[in-house]
Amino acid sequence: MNENIVWHPTEVTKQQRAEQKNQKPCVLWFTGLSGSGKSTVANAVESKLFESGCHSYLLDGDNVRHGINKDLTFSDEDRVENIRRIGEISKLFVDSGLIVLTAFISPFRADRALVRELTAEAEFVEVYIDTPIEVCEQRDPKGLYKKARQGEIKHFTGIDSPYEAPEAPEVTVKTADLNIEECANVVVDYLKAKKYI
Ligand code: PPS
Repeated sequence: MNENIVWHPTEVTKQQRAEQKNQKPCVLWFTGLSGSGKSTVANAVESKLFESGCHSYLLDGDNVRHGINKDLTFSDEDRVENIRRIGEISKLFVDSGLIVLTAFISPFRADRALVRELTAEAEFVEVYIDTPIEVCEQRDPKGLYKKARQGEIKHFTGIDSPYEAPEAPEVTVKTADLNIEECANVVVDYLKAKKYI
């Protein structure tokens, strides 16, 4: 970091922004295998939050990789950078008073821990979309598992690239056992119980 760059505090504080929105800002960090249901559940949760008047923003892996992270591949190194950037962006959005939902595979524990450290106490809510790989592969909504098995995609998570499941997530959602509405309610109930909303 250049020593001539100085942090400027803002006139309106993080707390004021949050109070105006009448919610406790946080990052709902959805993690899970490709096809596990991260985007689907995150979207269902955001719809529920929106209906109840909450202010939120959803950052989705595929979409972010079309824009700010379009220079990144799926090598281990680039996945680390992908999550680092999303962590920083999430932090800014939390500062703005929003409930941020992120839907990235984020396969490495260390990277998720880094994002947790970036945020303040209780601002990071890890949501593990716990779907067995057999179910994800069966669903294969984008045909990517098939391509990975045929060797057309290299470094595919769960096939020839690792996924490190969370050890102590705040919320676990088992999409193979519940419907989408029920999955979303698991997350929303947690937010209510912990007084985020
Ligand atoms: S990561 O690991 O967190 O950096 O990945 P992410 O940014 O969430 O992007 C995952 C989506 O990219 C597609 N895709 C791949 N996923 C895993 N491994 C490889 N090699 C790969 N190549 C492309 C895939 O559509 C993922 O979307 P989801 O929604 O997870 O299925």
